[in-house]
Amino acid sequence: MITKQTKPDPANLELSVEDMSTMTQAVLARVLTHHAGLSAMPSRGDLENIQSLCRSMREPVPEHGEAADNLLQPLFEDWIPRSFGTPGPGYLAYIPGSGVFPAALADFISATTNRYTGIWEAAPALVQLEANALEWLREAMQFPAEARGLFTTGGSMAMFNAIACAREKLLGTDIRSGTLYVSSQTHHSIAKAARLAGIANDRVRVIEVDEHYRMRVDSLERAIADDRASGLKPFMVFSTAGTTNTGAVDPLNAIADVAEREGLWHHVDGAYGGCFHLVPELRHLLAGLPRADSLTLDPHKGLFLPYGTGALLVRNGEDLRALHASSAGYLPDNQLEFYDPAQYGPELSRGFPGLRVWMCFKIFGAARYRAAIAEKRDLAVWAAERIARIPGMVMDALPQLSLFAFHLEGKGLETLEAQNQATRELMERVTRRGKIMLTGAQVGERYLGRVCVLSFRTRRAEMETCVQHLVEESAALLRQPR
Ligand SMILES: Cc1ncc(COP(=O)(O)O)c(C=O)c1O
Repeated sequence: MITKQTKPDPANLELSVEDMSTMTQAVLARVLTHHAGLSAMPSRGDLENIQSLCRSMREPVPEHGEAADNLLQPLFEDWIPRSFGTPGPGYLAYIPGSGVFPAALADFISATTNRYTGIWEAAPALVQLEANALEWLREAMQFPAEARGLFTTGGSMAMFNAIACAREKLLGTDIRSGTLYVSSQTHHSIAKAARLAGIANDRVRVIEVDEHYRMRVDSLERAIADDRASGLKPFMVFSTAGTTNTGAVDPLNAIADVAEREGLWHHVDGAYGGCFHLVPELRHLLAGLPRADSLTLDPHKGLFLPYGTGALLVRNGEDLRALHASSAGYLPDNQLEFYDPAQYGPELSRGFPGLRVWMCFKIFGAARYRAAIAEKRDLAVWAAERIARIPGMVMDALPQLSLFAFHLEGKGLETLEAQNQATRELMERVTRRGKIMLTGAQVGERYLGRVCVLSFRTRRAEMETCVQHLVEESAALLRQPR
């Protein structure tokens, strides 16, 4: 029998079920192998000759397609391993990410079903899942029932929306007279977010910190008074629930008092530390957080989600709606009963960030989340106690949450410059051993070593390795002739 050969139709991008299945299985096999090998991968990844690799990767747009398998091989074998090992258990650098698996499945479902969650009418039940996830965060942060929120791509975008919201409410169109207060330890994303929201750098006041790197409330009050005396309009203060450099928690209650008295909008940046409020036994470490006018959370840090999910909660949900609510003749009328993403955020067409959060809470349950978060703090406290006993080690910041900072002193390290150099070298030597990645931070004149425990994969074994490597490498450094 002669069968008629059908010519492939280039305009048809639909894949057969068989092709989709083969492709998906191939990806899944690679992902599972990757996950199985995470703890054996160098903690910093292999970044040797990375510039020449990147140059060699520049390519023209492919005119014709090729099999997915051809792409997976270099992706998983050459390119992914050449990056920081952020999901690995030994990643104690910066603020760790990690990425729980159910969130990846949620993304797969979101992308393959591709429903429109920008407006409630287009996918009411799916938007309800997102509303539920926001509601769970609201309850955990002890915000009032009228609070509303927004999932963003990260902490920076949450901050941007918070500033725009406060600016709209308290300054209206009189933007240039508004002044905003941060501390010298505030994350740099806030000055950037302020700029994006129309608050220029010359209206951002940097308040000094105390010996524990927390905002000095007396200096804040003075700066507010000075600005008022100059005819300016103080409108917003940022405090941090866990700074990136040292893990310091600002005096949230005292700052809330000032904000209340002075009529300022108080935003708490909980991008790193806010998640610890999920654990009732740890709430005292963040006392005052529920008083914030708005709060940044970063589920891609503290809820162990893959990168791409931040969250903003606004105490008076109407303030968030007032900034974002809009309508168009071609869209359904706005409704008030149900949460409606486009009415509470800047985007119209968007992904479905809520499904990740909802699915992870549903699959793990809040109890397991609380246990994992509490364990990260316990591990940090355990390690800090041991690291403090290392000869030459000076603890600059003990773990208030799960981050601590230190520097090295000793014979031949009498000057600040020598101590900075040795501390920097210590971070590098530990990282070069491949099991643990550490990074430090320049804080004023001093370079601080840091350990931040926030990956769900980091357990006691990695902390033991971290302590052991710091013991051995600091001893080797101090033995070095100078
Ligand atoms: C305290 C703090 N605030 C804000 C941010 C910025 O968040 P994102 O990187 O999600 O934009 C970070 C990031 O590490 C942070 O640690």
